Amino acid sequence: MRNLTGATIVALASSCVASSGYLKLDLHRRAPISNKLARRQNSDGSVDAVLSNNQELEYLVNITVGTPAQKLSVTLDTGSSDLWIPASSAPLCKKNQCDFGSFDPSKSSTYQVVEQDGFNITYAAPGDTDAGDWGSDTITIDGSSPIDSQQIGVASALFDQHGVMGVGFDTNEANNDGPGGVYQSVMDNLVSSKIIERKAFSLYLNDRDANSGSIILGGIDTTKYTGDLVALPLQPSDSGAVMEYYVSLTGVSFTDAAGKTTQISPDGYSQATLLDSGTTNTLLTNDVFTPLALGFGTTLDPQGSGNYILPCSVGNGNGTINYSFGGEGGVTIQVPVAAIVGGQAYTSDEYDDPAGGCALSMGTPMESGGFSILGDSFLRSAYAVFDLENQVAALAQADENQASTSNIVVIPTGTAIPSATNTATATGTQLTALESETAIPEASVSGSSLILAGTPTFNLGLSSSTATAGSGSGSSSSGAANYAAVPTAALLGLGVAAGLMGL
Ligand SMILES: *[C@@H]1O[C@H](CO)[C@@H](O)[C@H](O)[C@H]1NC(C)=O
Ligand SMILES: *[C@@H]1O[C@H](CO)[C@@H](O)[C@H](O)[C@H]1NC(C)=O
Ligand SMILES: *[C@@H]1O[C@H](CO)[C@@H](O)[C@H](O)[C@H]1NC(C)=O
Ligand SMILES: *[C@@H]1O[C@H](CO)[C@@H](O)[C@H](O)[C@H]1NC(C)=O
Repeated sequence: MRNLTGATIVALASSCVASSGYLKLDLHRRAPISNKLARRQNSDGSVDAVLSNNQELEYLVNITVGTPAQKLSVTLDTGSSDLWIPASSAPLCKKNQCDFGSFDPSKSSTYQVVEQDGFNITYAAPGDTDAGDWGSDTITIDGSSPIDSQQIGVASALFDQHGVMGVGFDTNEANNDGPGGVYQSVMDNLVSSKIIERKAFSLYLNDRDANSGSIILGGIDTTKYTGDLVALPLQPSDSGAVMEYYVSLTGVSFTDAAGKTTQISPDGYSQATLLDSGTTNTLLTNDVFTPLALGFGTTLDPQGSGNYILPCSVGNGNGTINYSFGGEGGVTIQVPVAAIVGGQAYTSDEYDDPAGGCALSMGTPMESGGFSILGDSFLRSAYAVFDLENQVAALAQADENQASTSNIVVIPTGTAIPSATNTATATGTQLTALESETAIPEASVSGSSLILAGTPTFNLGLSSSTATAGSGSGSSSSGAANYAAVPTAALLGLGVAAGLMGL
């Protein structure tokens, strides 16, 4: 999640190995809330566009807070920098909706108030604010040795159902302009508590079908990637300072099922793009997003939700989106087409594709308020190392499903990233203005109210039986549901607690 005031990963971590110099957290995916597209329903019954945060996957880590230790799970987030937890006094927790635990400061002998009502973090999704007190207490992260006096947000006014552990730069903490200023973040304290040697970590989300990924604080697992790990200088935020994980995206192309490559990005493309595990989708500038989305047969949801829908069958196709970073001497990460096909939004009775209509796991910076973001739909294909001390991120192609092997090297104090073979230098510029709407057409609807699928123009190698049924046919033997009459809540699998939608 990107914390707006200054700027999020969510699977379940099950075990950890505390060892000298690094801390490995195994991440397991939390089951999707629903296989339908999550949309926010307003009180008047209208539905807002899906925001990119956390709609499908959650990568959680177990922590303890206080003395005696109270257990909670929090979202691990590269896009923000604070550790905050729900207060058990929060109305949402009192209604038993804080499913990953809450914290009662009055039951901890080591808790201290730092600033009453001083904590307030706002993420990119509208209304996504969590607020309360700043406090400090002893914490442990997935069985680590204790970190004393860690500053934490204790939120009693909750939008999100569980807390967040941000692993970004301390200069990007919430409320830095308040009396407390910059405080020692969890990343800072992991080093000062000698749990890790350098303020750096690596991230391996693994593919969507695998149930486990990992984050290694202070270390790199050299078995989890192929090719070279290439170091990329982090790019400055709007403020001119490096305070988030922006890297320079210098080219995007599509290689089809027959191996033919089409350049998608314009010549000279160089875009500062945020590596953000807390965002589900990948948000690309219009000039790259539009030709890619149209190539996959994407249309706009005719229900006016603002969501991009594509034929679910695309997920069975072959081809990769190749993302190049750092220009000359840089690195290219290949993302298979299946990775950009999100949850099913419409069944095959409602949408003219044998597999139904799915959410596209891509979008534009309109969804983030103006930031180009490489979210989970990109990050699952990459192995990423983040070095806060030297302001570098190193990327390599993830070697998926290597969960059982392991060769962890400690990232020592110093500047070099162990096993990185190369350093790229190209810079990337920030977006200067929010771009206007894309040229993605609204899906048409046939007389029987069946939503007609868009037609992919990319060669995905799909045979005609698995390809889209073809827009324009307008008929379906299976008896199209009258989509206009389908109650929205049922269609979208709503009916879960409002707080869940809020993520
Ligand atoms: C957290 O702990 C619970 C109970 O101890 C365990 O079932 C769960 O798998 C753990 N989850 C993570 C994220 O480690
Ligand atoms: C938190 O900050 C936001 C944005 O400034 C504000 O709208 C909201 O009222 C604040 N919430 C609390 C509980 O202080
Ligand atoms: C792009 O991806 C294809 C695989 O789909 C691969 O063969 C090709 O080498 C990649 N291009 C680059 C520049 O890595
Ligand atoms: C995709 O590629 C695999 C491996 O080359 C091949 O077995 C499969 O038939 C291809 N599928 C399509 C839809 O082209």
